[in-house]
Amino acid sequence: MAKVVVESLYKSFPSRGGSLVSPIPPTQENITVTASESKGNKSSQVNVLRSINLTIGDGEFMVLVGPSGCGKSTLLRLIAGLEDVTGGNILIGDRVVNQIPSKARDIAMVFQSYALYPHLSVYDNIAFGLRRMNASDEKNQGKFPQWLENTLTGLTRKLPKGLRYRSEQEKKIEQQVREVAARLQIDALLDRLPKELSGGQKQRVALGRAIARNPQVFLMDEPLSNLDAKLRAETRSQIVKLQRQLGITTIYVTHDQTEAMTMGDRIAVMYQGEIQQLARPLELYNHPANRFVAEFIGSPPMNFIKVEVESAKLVTHAQFQLNLSEYWQPFVSFYPGRSLLLGVRPEHFSVSTASPENLEVEVDLVEALGNETYLFVHLVDDPDLHLQVRMSPDHTVQRGDTLWLAIAIDKVHFFDVKTEKAINLD
Ligand SMILES: Nc1ncnc2c1ncn2[C@@H]1O[C@H](COP(=O)(O)OP(=O)(O)OP(=O)(O)O)[C@@H](O)[C@H]1O
Ligand SMILES: [Mg+2]
Repeated sequence: MAKVVVESLYKSFPSRGGSLVSPIPPTQENITVTASESKGNKSSQVNVLRSINLTIGDGEFMVLVGPSGCGKSTLLRLIAGLEDVTGGNILIGDRVVNQIPSKARDIAMVFQSYALYPHLSVYDNIAFGLRRMNASDEKNQGKFPQWLENTLTGLTRKLPKGLRYRSEQEKKIEQQVREVAARLQIDALLDRLPKELSGGQKQRVALGRAIARNPQVFLMDEPLSNLDAKLRAETRSQIVKLQRQLGITTIYVTHDQTEAMTMGDRIAVMYQGEIQQLARPLELYNHPANRFVAEFIGSPPMNFIKVEVESAKLVTHAQFQLNLSEYWQPFVSFYPGRSLLLGVRPEHFSVSTASPENLEVEVDLVEALGNETYLFVHLVDDPDLHLQVRMSPDHTVQRGDTLWLAIAIDKVHFFDVKTEKAINLD
């Protein structure tokens, strides 16, 4: 087990004439254009990761979350040693691993695509990494030279079980494989080939292969995205439970905010090659550092309404006004006569009565899920302002209805219009 430290990490890839879409708008700052001397044409670098600093504690479950193309897999692949860093350092335990090849980093990776060997049984898929580790470890050599061990194993493989040659190390491997298979409830599948398994079973075999190696660090890249919703939820809790039992430092990549919120000890929210915020799940939810995080974490997303600051105690919109709690006054007092973005989560509206503090809205769409109801509404006097509202299923609301909504004043957020940063953070 080990901590993982990422220090001022940069990664750029060569951009080839528009065949790649840069996640970062090509500005002077993030594109370094270098003339290709031999051909006289221009090639450029796309900076995919910029100044990433991250410390993942020993035994911690860290989730990297963000939209497609933000650099999550690239960061994981750099830690795994599958890509070279452009700048900065990666440490696993106390050693800098920048120059250490992937297989010597003592990590195990699980991919979305499972990456099982199709011609090997489940047993052999799980045993594969263990055999390779043992083969390179002098201490684990059997009583015969390796070539003879392999020949004897190969020659007797097709014989009935009792007659097969099994070296001491193979016996040890079998014990490890069976232990892991039992843990993941795939013991009945050990003789099958990957093509004879369902998606969920393949995923558990891939996990088993990673666990069997007992690495210092697990790296997982969207391992659940091929599973259906029910299986995804089940496997999600299984991975969390396993990780807690094994205590192995884990870095888990997903674009799914529910996975991030339910699995991570901490979450790093990434966007355009940078970490936007690093915090515990509820801290992210309750105190998002900027508009991007506020919108990305939480479903349906937070609503944003531009308001004018009348005084430290009062913000207004053409249709309503809000008296601010004492908490907000010192922060809002920096914006006299200016605009702010008011952020309100869908669950922080409630159906109320006509009042200057409340919003009159018309319902465009009702999604009744049974346990809760989502409303898509627009302001009666500002039809371009659309909001999403979450409410209890007891209310019977129909499309076309008009309602008055109250805002839970102690739950609101405010963001700077220009920087989009939360105004109450540093
Ligand atoms: N080998 C490569 N060469 C050039 N550009 C690359 C390479 N690998 C990734 N990129 C670019 O780097 C950016 C980040 O890619 P990455 O795969 O890390 O995103 P991601 O956050 O994992 O996205 P997704 O959720 O879609 O998997 C993308 O714009 C991608 O096109
Ligand atoms: Mg990816």
